[in-house]
Amino acid sequence: MEHSSQVRLNVNGESHVLDLDNRTTLLDALREHLHLNGTKKGCDHGQCGACTVMVGGERINSCLSLAVMHHGDEVVTIEGLGEPGNLHPMQAAFIKHDGFQCGYCTPGQICSSVAVLEEIKANIPSHVTSDLTTPVQLTADEVRERMSGNICRCGAYANIIDAISDVGGVRA
Ligand code: FES
Ligand code: FES
Repeated sequence: MEHSSQVRLNVNGESHVLDLDNRTTLLDALREHLHLNGTKKGCDHGQCGACTVMVGGERINSCLSLAVMHHGDEVVTIEGLGEPGNLHPMQAAFIKHDGFQCGYCTPGQICSSVAVLEEIKANIPSHVTSDLTTPVQLTADEVRERMSGNICRCGAYANIIDAISDVGGVRA
């Protein structure tokens, strides 16, 4: 039985073909094989959100997903969102609102934040959406609920919500 596979990943607009042990997580493929170290390994168990990336426009915990499951997929990491001198509006907002201290959770927070605004725009309800008959409202409660899988040990939560609210246009 084969224990490795050739996996084609499109990461931040660039196509890569990797020979990977079938047990390699997407997180390890990004960090260890493509050397994209912006995506962080916090718990490696799906509990902290530090490893959040976007696949096909939706956020996932990359530590919980095998790379072989993403053959042919489009992946966006924090490096693909923006870079110094050309920041994504969410990256700029995290700086403006001081949405971090140590910064370890920040790439995951930012990838999650970008996807959260898209989820709300796409009218995908969350646990706190009370009225399913009208479009989902962009409220601070919706954002808080949807960001609850992204843990920040520095406790920068209030400023993170301010940053997302600023980009998304949530009223204070
Ligand atoms: Fe993936 Fe914590 S490292 S959820
Ligand atoms: Fe330190 Fe979030 S900024 S863990």
